[in-house]
Amino acid sequence: MIYILDTADLRAIRHCNEFYPLGGVTTNPSIIAKEKRDFWPLLTEIRSIIGPDKMLHVQTVATKAEDMVAEAKLLAERLGGEFYVKIPIGEEGLRATMMLKKEGIGVTMTAIFTPAQALMAAMAGASFVAPYLNRLDNILGDGCAVVAEIVSQLEKHKSDCKVLAASFKTAEQAHKCASYGCHSVTVTEGVLKALISHPMTDAAIAGFERDWIGLYGDKTISDF
Ligand code: G3P
Repeated sequence: MIYILDTADLRAIRHCNEFYPLGGVTTNPSIIAKEKRDFWPLLTEIRSIIGPDKMLHVQTVATKAEDMVAEAKLLAERLGGEFYVKIPIGEEGLRATMMLKKEGIGVTMTAIFTPAQALMAAMAGASFVAPYLNRLDNILGDGCAVVAEIVSQLEKHKSDCKVLAASFKTAEQAHKCASYGCHSVTVTEGVLKALISHPMTDAAIAGFERDWIGLYGDKTISDF
């Protein structure tokens, strides 16, 4: 299971990169716009925080395949390392994906809402497909069921394409995806924290501390 952070907030990236087994960072134009910073300094700082070995997924903004390919090449060249270009599903996007496959640049096909879209993206050569789970749940869909079906279809068709589920509001949504065999999820810092939080854990840790202090005061193991 790969946990990825869906943000361009440098504080959150620094924190989560240090404290969680983070596989990388995903962004999109809306996430980047939120930071109100210049594009290249922001992206290069993200790369320098996570290092070259972790995945960085950055989206194109062009609308024609040739322009998407040009943007992808520029991004891959300037950001280096484990880089994936995010491209929204559509005819131009599929064409760009097939062109980029030949160039050796990995594509994450994004804004996926159905298994049919995911399968087509996989056949075009996408390395990842990114279904938007919570946006489906918001309109009374079943985002987890869609993710589960995508996982099973890709397996049935023996595709190498991986599922990078996106758009989460809750830890439950993210963990359900993991139990359905989803390869990776991209989540906010809040969802990442919620995935390890439990009031019983807090109570257990408080109990350990209370009992230790009761006998040894403020001594730590290295004091003995
Ligand atoms: O990576 C896609 C994701 O950022 C969309 O999330 O919360 O805007 O639905 P959201």
